[in-house]
Amino acid sequence: VSERVEVRRARRDDAAWIRETLQASWGEPVVARRGRVVDATTLPALVALDGTTRVGLATYRVDGAAAELVTIDALVEGAGVGTALLEAVGTAARGAGCSRLWLITTNDNLRALRFYQRRGLRLVAVHAGAVAEARRLKPSIPLVGRDGIEIRDELELAVEL
Ligand SMILES: CC(C)(COP(=O)(O)OP(=O)(O)OC[C@H]1O[C@@H](n2cnc3c(N)ncnc32)[C@H](O)[C@@H]1OP(=O)(O)O)[C@@H](O)C(=O)NCCC(=O)NCCS
Repeated sequence: VSERVEVRRARRDDAAWIRETLQASWGEPVVARRGRVVDATTLPALVALDGTTRVGLATYRVDGAAAELVTIDALVEGAGVGTALLEAVGTAARGAGCSRLWLITTNDNLRALRFYQRRGLRLVAVHAGAVAEARRLKPSIPLVGRDGIEIRDELELAVEL
């Protein structure tokens, strides 16, 4: 990935790639958290580009004064793609009138927990055991996640914009 990762709003011709990318990362384009499912293909999306190559995707949801980062995926890790996407989501959310950005990650995702905290988000809640309910809504959520850690808890992080 070259020096500057660019981020733009998704276009109509990104739709197939967005679906494939969500499927590859999350099993299906549906995300389950906080007892609800959302089809991420229906959400506003931002695409990270290295030149003309798509290298990352973020989807988010605006709900009044708060925006939820629903998915974020860097196809190349450790090269600034996630940082560029997170910044762009913050900017888009502020532009939509939001004063807060929040998200759910899971207890196994230590890389994400580090990544978000390094970028100003704070852990505001631990929903212990909540993944059991998410798994009822989305049975494809694996029992074991990253680093061989059982996926059990929803970690809620947030930042004021
Ligand atoms: C979590 C995730 C989005 C982070 O994205 P990323 O692109 O790897 O993150 P970045 O590259 O921006 O930053 C991570 C590290 O890479 C390095 N880095 C960042 N920008 C860099 C650059 N321009 N050049 C070289 N290295 C860089 C830094 O070491 C940074 O760590 P830091 O916190 O010490 O600054 C990514 O790991 C991912 O897609 N994970 C899988 C999906 C997932 O778990 N999503 C979150 C679900 S809630």
